[in-house]
Amino acid sequence: MSVSRILLSAIALAVIVGGCTRPLPEPESAAALLYATRCGSCHVAHHPGTMTKKMWEVWVVRMGTEIQTKGQPMLTQRETSEILAYVQRHASNSARAGATGGVAPAEVPAPGS
Ligand code: HEC
Repeated sequence: MSVSRILLSAIALAVIVGGCTRPLPEPESAAALLYATRCGSCHVAHHPGTMTKKMWEVWVVRMGTEIQTKGQPMLTQRETSEILAYVQRHASNSARAGATGGVAPAEVPAPGS
């Protein structure tokens, strides 16, 4: 029965780590915690590397609206800029296939990187 036990622990671990998603960068930081808390309640907290800086700017603003619509506590100015700074710090320079649902891929170097 040891094989199935190993399998079970592997599944348990995968669930704990969050399916097949990569762990968030700077996992111990306050910014990562804030991001995971505020942006991981309705869906998984998307890995910052799945989007470009530009795309994050759009999504964080859009999600601010979504959060209000759903009656969750509004993001404060501070939270918004902290979350945006965090995801942009680890953003990718090009959109990954399938990560975004239709935003044009950009090989353009992000400003200020
Ligand atoms: C109140 C629930 C809720 C919270 C909280 C929330 N989101 Fe979302 N998010 C959604 C919904 C619903 C969608 C899909 C609808 C849409 O496209 O607008 C979505 C979609 C997204 C997408 C697009 C994913 C894709 O597959 O392309 C990103 C990126 C995203 N959210 C980021 C964030 C970030 C960053 C935060 C924190 C600031 C956040 N979300 C917090 C509900 C939420």
